[in-house]
Amino acid sequence: MAGLGTNSRRWSRSAEALSGASPRTLATFFDELNEWSEIKLRVLEKYFDAYLRYRGKAQPKVFYVDGCAGTGRYGADGADQREGSPVRMAKFAQRRRDEGKPCQLVCINTEINPDFCRELRDSLAGFDPALVRVRDGAFQDHLASILREMGDSPAVFFLDPFGVKQMRMADMNPLLRRPDTELLLNLNTPRLRMLAGFEDSASKDARAKVALVSEVLGEGPTDPDPAWLREWRRLRDPIRWERWAADAYRRELVGRSPHLRRAFAYPVREAVGANPKYYLIFASRSDEAILVMNDLVCSEDDDLFERSESIRADGQASFFRVLREDERESRVRAVLENIYSYGSANQGCTREDVIRHFVLEEERFGELRKKHYRAAIDILVRQGRAKFAGKAPKDEDAIRFA
Ligand SMILES: C[S@@+](CC[C@H](N)C(=O)[O-])C[C@H]1O[C@@H](n2cnc3c(N)ncnc32)[C@H](O)[C@@H]1O
Repeated sequence: MAGLGTNSRRWSRSAEALSGASPRTLATFFDELNEWSEIKLRVLEKYFDAYLRYRGKAQPKVFYVDGCAGTGRYGADGADQREGSPVRMAKFAQRRRDEGKPCQLVCINTEINPDFCRELRDSLAGFDPALVRVRDGAFQDHLASILREMGDSPAVFFLDPFGVKQMRMADMNPLLRRPDTELLLNLNTPRLRMLAGFEDSASKDARAKVALVSEVLGEGPTDPDPAWLREWRRLRDPIRWERWAADAYRRELVGRSPHLRRAFAYPVREAVGANPKYYLIFASRSDEAILVMNDLVCSEDDDLFERSESIRADGQASFFRVLREDERESRVRAVLENIYSYGSANQGCTREDVIRHFVLEEERFGELRKKHYRAAIDILVRQGRAKFAGKAPKDEDAIRFA
């Protein structure tokens, strides 16, 4: 795709420092939308659709805050151009209004890079300013006034920076203290891992890099023995450490917030079996929202299998399909026995209880969709090991396990 990038954008050092990205990233990032970046945008849009179907009935206004908004578009004008998060959400807000939906969605975007911000204003110029707003500058600097503007309205924050320095745990505190708030965050774990790798480096900026890892994960920047470093040395496996770091991050969010009930981390990959490009961290006060997100990321995994399959035109395609089906089947089989054990110990539980137990309490986020749990229970029924009482709709009906 023809780039808007290298030639048309001239970057000052301060723009680079502000955005926390290399000159190359700055010059080329918005030239093309990668498939793995598309995933977070799809999840965001689908989540919002579900969120507003649920919240939109009772709320007059809901806010979407895109803290690291970017330019709003990827690629040069033309058929190949793709929309970024601010434009997608602006269209969504506008569509709702045009359709006369009762709850107004207000989108607030902040962008630190002045050149990007100019492009963003351009991308959003056609939208009603009552619905779609842009603020130049750092998200952190605007946060206090955004919080005031939102009052008590429900809000979803999407933070999608290039690197990790915008993800310092202390900077999340105002969001964590806010009652009716959901968070969708891009945690760039490869970047975090790269910084962690400086732990035994003698280079002059190694200390600052290592301190940044501590700050992101909510540990003391001067602590000589933070938990992340102990795990780093114990695991001796950077990819497993990334998983650990994503889990540590999500747990810290919930631990610091009096409102968030749970948070989960979903690894976004370019292809099946590839190392994660980043983790999407979703933190919510609602179990219902986590269950919606669980289904969304499971279907992203299914799509990833399809895509990984279609790029292999060399006969490995069917191998991937079989692998996927086998994997799903064996997961359903494995969970089936676990459901049986759970059900035997919790006689009279419902299908909804079973799903909540496995996704939320056992933290099997992203493994199986609701429909797979239902299918597993149906198998138990067919095997004569479970029986619905038949007194309520199936999700709410008591089940007896034989
Ligand atoms: C990955 S891009 C965002 C892409 C956008 N979410 C999308 O999907 O279209 C990250 C953007 O965050 C901006 N940024 C970085 N730090 C920021 C901060 N502290 N406040 C606001 N914007 C920031 C960068 O300049 C860059 O444009």
